[in-house]
Amino acid sequence: MKIFLIYGGKSAEHDISILTAYSITQEVYYQYYEIEPVYITRDGQWVKGPVIHQADKLRNAESLRLSVGKEAVFAQKDQESSIGVLIEPSSIKSEDAVIFPALHGPNGEDGTVQGLFEVLGMPYVGAGVLASAVGMDKIVSKQLFQQAGLPQVPYVPVPKRYWLHQREDVYNRCEGTLIYPMFVKPANLGSSVGISKAENREELTEAINLAFQYDRRVIVEQGLQEAREIEVAVLGNDDIHTSVPGELVKSVEFYDYESKYINNDVRMQIPATLSEETTEKIREYAVRAFQAIDGSGLSRCDFFVTSNSEIFINEVNTMPGFTQFSMYPSLWKQTGLSYGDLIEELIQLALRRAEERSQYQQKNHQ
Ligand SMILES: Nc1ncnc2c1ncn2[C@@H]1O[C@H](COP(=O)(O)OP(=O)(O)O)[C@@H](O)[C@H]1O
Ligand SMILES: [Mg+2]
Repeated sequence: MKIFLIYGGKSAEHDISILTAYSITQEVYYQYYEIEPVYITRDGQWVKGPVIHQADKLRNAESLRLSVGKEAVFAQKDQESSIGVLIEPSSIKSEDAVIFPALHGPNGEDGTVQGLFEVLGMPYVGAGVLASAVGMDKIVSKQLFQQAGLPQVPYVPVPKRYWLHQREDVYNRCEGTLIYPMFVKPANLGSSVGISKAENREELTEAINLAFQYDRRVIVEQGLQEAREIEVAVLGNDDIHTSVPGELVKSVEFYDYESKYINNDVRMQIPATLSEETTEKIREYAVRAFQAIDGSGLSRCDFFVTSNSEIFINEVNTMPGFTQFSMYPSLWKQTGLSYGDLIEELIQLALRRAEERSQYQQKNHQ
């Protein structure tokens, strides 16, 4: 079977996506599959590279950064620098193939590209259109978590018109229901871009203005002081499994883009040191959050745990970082599932979901 491994993309997480794709090429079970690499350039062009049949064909992650034209760097050992072919996204349509979208952030993890795969009628790894879109949207996901009875910090959604025309109301609502520090975030971005912490009204104004540079909807949240960040891996479609929880141990206070991806100021502790009761609760909440957004395949559910053991769900990532060293695969490894087996399980889940979907479609035609 063919795997279309799609990576790169227009989001800020372009580089981490390449690392994810590279990790997958190293561990996929080549006795069953061959990989067709499809690289999305930063400006959104789709480029297909030569088929990969074995792990050692690729020298390093950089060799997956293929491009069209002169600076092609898709290099396999025996093909010094083969040039990728520019393709139309829809041209990947084929039988007996599965798509692995190793994409993070807007345009990859938010349901848009999943919609394309649905239209093409192809099986793909991970969440469907709805779960992807909801998982990416910090306002809608919070509304669904609220309905599911999951504990979370208080928040105020701020649509742009509200900020432009009723600013005093925004201040009153934020300061009436939350206390400083507050966290201000664009509704639809990952990787901490556009997020800031506000200690007073002036900073709140600045933070909201900044967040509006990235999205037309903003969320202001109650900031937690010294909360631990605990993450759980979820795997499955209907039969949902959770990993042991892990902790992101920070050496800087605010977990921002720089510290997350550039400085590596974080250490993972797996399993996290938590009471049995807290661990059980977090795993149960992770399943409920996954169900609340109609998740399938995989998700990483992120929580805050305060010093008096209060638990708050922060967010669900439907395509979490997925290199061999990322939290999600590491959580499974500690729970007894290797990276190779995890990839295989995700492919099987994708095929089963596509099968189920085609059964429903046939029923609808009758
Ligand atoms: N309400 C909050 N209280 C305290 N810290 C927060 C809060 N919200 C976010 N953070 C910090 O900011 C980081 C990024 O926020 P998050 O909502 O996870 O956005 P992203 O989608 O970019 O990962 C978190 O990992 C955490 O360190
Ligand atoms: Mg996060």
